[in-house]
Amino acid sequence: MSADTTDEAAHADVLRKKLIDELRERGDIGTDKLAAAFAAVPRHRFAPRASVEEAYADDAVITKRNERGHPISSVSAPWVQARMLELSGLGPGMRALEIGSGGYNAALMAEVVGAGGEVVSVDIDQDVAERATELLAETGYADMVRVVCADGTYGGGELTPEGGFDAIIVTAQAPDVPPAWSGQLAEKGRLVVPLSLRGTRQILAFEREGGHLVSRGRTECGFVGMRGDNRHGGRTIDLSGEDLRLTLDDDQRADTDALRSAVASSRRTTVWTGVDLRANEGALPSLDLWLISTLEPCARTLHASPKAVERGLSGWSIITAATWDGGTLAYLTIRSNTTDGPGDFELGVHAYGPDRETLAERLADRVRAWDSGGHRGSVEPTVRVYPRATPYDRLPPGQVITNRRSRLVVSLP
Ligand SMILES: C[S@@+](CC[C@H](N)C(=O)[O-])C[C@H]1O[C@@H](n2cnc3c(N)ncnc32)[C@H](O)[C@@H]1O
Repeated sequence: MSADTTDEAAHADVLRKKLIDELRERGDIGTDKLAAAFAAVPRHRFAPRASVEEAYADDAVITKRNERGHPISSVSAPWVQARMLELSGLGPGMRALEIGSGGYNAALMAEVVGAGGEVVSVDIDQDVAERATELLAETGYADMVRVVCADGTYGGGELTPEGGFDAIIVTAQAPDVPPAWSGQLAEKGRLVVPLSLRGTRQILAFEREGGHLVSRGRTECGFVGMRGDNRHGGRTIDLSGEDLRLTLDDDQRADTDALRSAVASSRRTTVWTGVDLRANEGALPSLDLWLISTLEPCARTLHASPKAVERGLSGWSIITAATWDGGTLAYLTIRSNTTDGPGDFELGVHAYGPDRETLAERLADRVRAWDSGGHRGSVEPTVRVYPRATPYDRLPPGQVITNRRSRLVVSLP
């Protein structure tokens, strides 16, 4: 080992300890066993092209981009990895599957399960799987993790142990829960997956309950999109050129032509809610989750471009929540605060179309209910996953999302 390398290793030790202290302080790492895993695995060795400082920042390190420059592989941010591992309930002797490889997270998993456990990691890209295999070998984890190139839509495939995995951790943004994931989960196992719910992005921890899965924990975070057979579907409608666009899930219907001509007519109703928002308050994710859990149809997929703001179509350039009914569309907007409240902005609703007054009020009413009902801090829906063929009358109350391979039911207590 060269002197430089020794220096780098010593520097990395210091940064790693600092990172662990921060993760513990914030509650991302909650257990000694996970802290020990973070202490044991040299994160910088799994991000060789990043500086040691970048490797130990609490941020993702991008390792691969597609032809358009969008990230498609990364070493995920430490706080996300810590939370997902805590949510997974992984412990000594367990058998675990990681979907989406990189090496580092699999090494953490190997440290947690120990010599009596087993870790399988699958990645859809051959080069990612090969690099992860090399990095794991260089850092001494070759015997503890098996990396294979496969579409994780089908879980661990032939490498699934008898009785299933005690934990399945998906590290790419998934639109759906394919049957392989629930089918390969051990009776008391946990599936942790970044799941898209009507455009919101939730990491959910599921357990088996009867013939379906039920969420037992949640944190908010997005991942690089899943590819292969569990990639996102849906379609995007241009409502006013590309300045105002709405993305619909496969099971959502809208009268596209009627919505376009409603926006083109410029006949608009705006309702101000009296609900204020502080800049950097971080309340929007809970509002989005509240809206998609309590309003049907609803999606947090209305893209307003900077030009939409210039043209007066929206008060902000953002991806926000919208609802629609026939040829009527309503979506969130903001203006500088005119209320007596402490916020910098006031939330409002713009609506176009024949029933714009009714739909604007419906959405505004939901926003007020979120504010007055004490939901600003967080909204904690339960998400249940049923087989795709489950008839509606066998589902519990809640918002139903019918995906290609499952039916999800989102409900608030
Ligand atoms: C965020 S990275 C994984 C990070 C990794 N778990 C770590 O150590 O931090 C997401 C990975 O998911 C992979 N991926 C995307 N779609 C997939 C699929 N259908 N099956 C398996 N892997 C997939 C990508 O190639 C990418 O390498």
